[in-house]
Amino acid sequence: MKNKLLIFFSITACILLFGFAARFPGNSISKKDVELKIPAGFPKPLYDFKNNKISPAGFTLGRKLFYDPILSKDSSISCQTCHQRVAAFAHIDHSLSHGIDGRIGTRNVPALQNLIWQTTYMWDGGVNNLEVQPINPITNPDEMNESLAHVIAKLKQNTEYVQLFRKVYRDTIINSERLLKTLAQFTGLMISANSRYDRYIAGRDTFSMQEKSGLQLFRAKCASCHKEPLFSDNSYRSNGLKPDTSLNDTGRGKVSGLQSDNYKFRVPGLRNIEMTFPYMHDGRFRKLKDVLNHYSNAASHTTTADADITRIGRLSDKERTDIIAFLLTLTDKEFLYDARFADPGLK
Ligand code: HEC
Ligand code: HEC
Repeated sequence: MKNKLLIFFSITACILLFGFAARFPGNSISKKDVELKIPAGFPKPLYDFKNNKISPAGFTLGRKLFYDPILSKDSSISCQTCHQRVAAFAHIDHSLSHGIDGRIGTRNVPALQNLIWQTTYMWDGGVNNLEVQPINPITNPDEMNESLAHVIAKLKQNTEYVQLFRKVYRDTIINSERLLKTLAQFTGLMISANSRYDRYIAGRDTFSMQEKSGLQLFRAKCASCHKEPLFSDNSYRSNGLKPDTSLNDTGRGKVSGLQSDNYKFRVPGLRNIEMTFPYMHDGRFRKLKDVLNHYSNAASHTTTADADITRIGRLSDKERTDIIAFLLTLTDKEFLYDARFADPGLK
């Protein structure tokens, strides 16, 4: 009897321990965890890790930085304040981004996923390098309102960071290049490629009649811009949204200086779209139904809408619900619950 009890307790203890380790495995990132695997059917990535060799220590440091408000002026805002894991690193239910001192930005927080396949970043493509991208939120007065020099000074005084940088680079140098490179190791590995859509394409899952019809309609009406498998062709287009006069965001035009680029935005990828609401650069639509109503309603389009938008034409109720059913197959639970990307503070 005593033996049986002992065995029972040992087994329970093991289950508890393993359960705990499985929930928070992230604090020990292995070599395997940071292998860059190009999903079947995906093109060659545009960001090259050759000059930023991924290592478990580099990824771990990038992750800590991503979740650490030390990057903001008053230690109140981290990257994850705006980029939340449950929302594929968009900001759930916020139309415009919220930064330091409750300051409201001018754009909706985009999801972070499959970044190494993007030619440019931001809704207007104003940044063309994944490594450089975080300078923007760190120094933006409405976001983290900090300077790179001051972030580096703070990190140099922090014994834990001193150790973490040393582990990656095997010397004592802490500078902004290294800060930005390790952040890119973390964000660059955010890859979503195991949705039901992906498994269907690979012949490992089935679609309902409705989802099949949605995919067909999507390919006919939407995929010229939202190109598979990344659901973006990396171009800038006007999808016909009437400009919000209070923001007057001219989008790509602001970057290129060309009037013909005014009110064009980067075609966003649509993976995990179920989780990344609200939608569009200004977060004006809360529901996918609103998005489909917009595309279907020529009267809501600007005269400068892309020709591919005009071609969509009126969508029946059934066509709209079929397309939405298809869009929901792009949810990738493996990515959304991937413990490698969880907050390392959850020890
Ligand atoms: C205050 C909210 C906020 C914070 C904090 C923030 N971001 Fe962002 N992020 C945004 C918004 C808004 C955009 C889109 C900006 C635009 O288009 O002008 C964006 C865009 C991006 C993009 C480009 C995504 C794409 O598809 O183009 C990346 C990458 C990114 N952020 C990473 C980070 C990292 C890393 C940090 C921390 C150093 C961070 N962000 C902190 C709000 C934030
Ligand atoms: C002419 C190119 C084009 C076509 C065709 C097109 N889109 Fe878009 N789509 C865009 C652009 C550009 C945006 C971003 C616009 C903005 O924010 O101002 C966008 C945004 C979206 C968004 C919001 C994404 C987000 O993260 O906020 C969804 C959802 C969407 N499109 C679905 C569709 C569907 C469904 C169709 C077909 C019925 C379609 N699109 C057809 C270019 C296009």
